[in-house]
Amino acid sequence: MGLIEEALRKSTQQRKGSVRGNGALSAARAGRSAVVESTIRQYLAAPVDREAMHRNRILNTVGDVSVTRAYKILRTRVMHRLGANGWHSVGITGTTVGEGKTLTAVNLALALAQDVNNWVFLVDLDLQRPRVGTYLGMRYEHGLTDYLTGQAEFSQIVYDVSIPRLAVIPNARSVEFSSELLLSPHMSDFLHFLQTEPPRRIVVFDMPPLLASDDVLAFAPRVDSFLLVVSQGQTARRTLSNAKEMLREINVMGVVLNRSTERNDSPYY
Ligand SMILES: Nc1ncnc2c1ncn2[C@@H]1O[C@H](COP(=O)(O)OP(=O)(O)OP(=O)(O)O)[C@@H](O)[C@H]1O
Ligand SMILES: [Mg+2]
Repeated sequence: MGLIEEALRKSTQQRKGSVRGNGALSAARAGRSAVVESTIRQYLAAPVDREAMHRNRILNTVGDVSVTRAYKILRTRVMHRLGANGWHSVGITGTTVGEGKTLTAVNLALALAQDVNNWVFLVDLDLQRPRVGTYLGMRYEHGLTDYLTGQAEFSQIVYDVSIPRLAVIPNARSVEFSSELLLSPHMSDFLHFLQTEPPRRIVVFDMPPLLASDDVLAFAPRVDSFLLVVSQGQTARRTLSNAKEMLREINVMGVVLNRSTERNDSPYY
């Protein structure tokens, strides 16, 4: 997969050349003390539905240890890269539909939140095909697009899902002009609000595919780094080739191979 290697090589060079984000964050991480929960704001309650989670293959309800282990490996590698570069946000994208981006985003967020050193925000940034709330079986009224269109306050869209160290910002309605909304002043306010939240926060953005809209490219300058989800037997070489130019414009920290046929003792992914 020459294209992916090329994207990774480029992002490694970028990492060496410039460090984005908050340098103090990595210094704090080096101390490795747990997030003090009492310093964290209270959010609206929207408990998850464990049956829905199980149906949707979400961690904490999946008994398969190889799945859990695979996400822990992914989590640790993501944490290393975030920490080493002073980054605190990661966008999950891919080239085309149905590759497993949302499943990866939700499970990565859960795995990150299992580490007591992290505080995680999981944000549904697929404004046209929002699924995060559904995958978790959440019941809620307002979502991110309501905030972006001025119909809800920040306090009405951030949810406490009764999973320690995790807050979820889902979407309730899909919108047509998604890239315009992603660049709107409301979105800047939203990101600013997240930045004023607890230290050692990690923001996981579930995003649409690169080739479906200009959303990822439009939002890329506001995300520290990206994970590219590639689905074995599904993502075509030609599709990757079509995404070549776009991959050059985003900072890819790594590639997740989803639906890998290598199971037995090795990780699910
Ligand atoms: N590794 C996997 N094993 C089994 N099923 C999977 C796997 N990854 C994803 N799926 C299933 O494939 C479907 C699509 O997954 P998901 O919604 O995460 O993809 P997506 O890339 O976010 O799609 P979209 O482009 O529509 O946002 C879901 O039903 C999900 O449960
Ligand atoms: Mg999705």
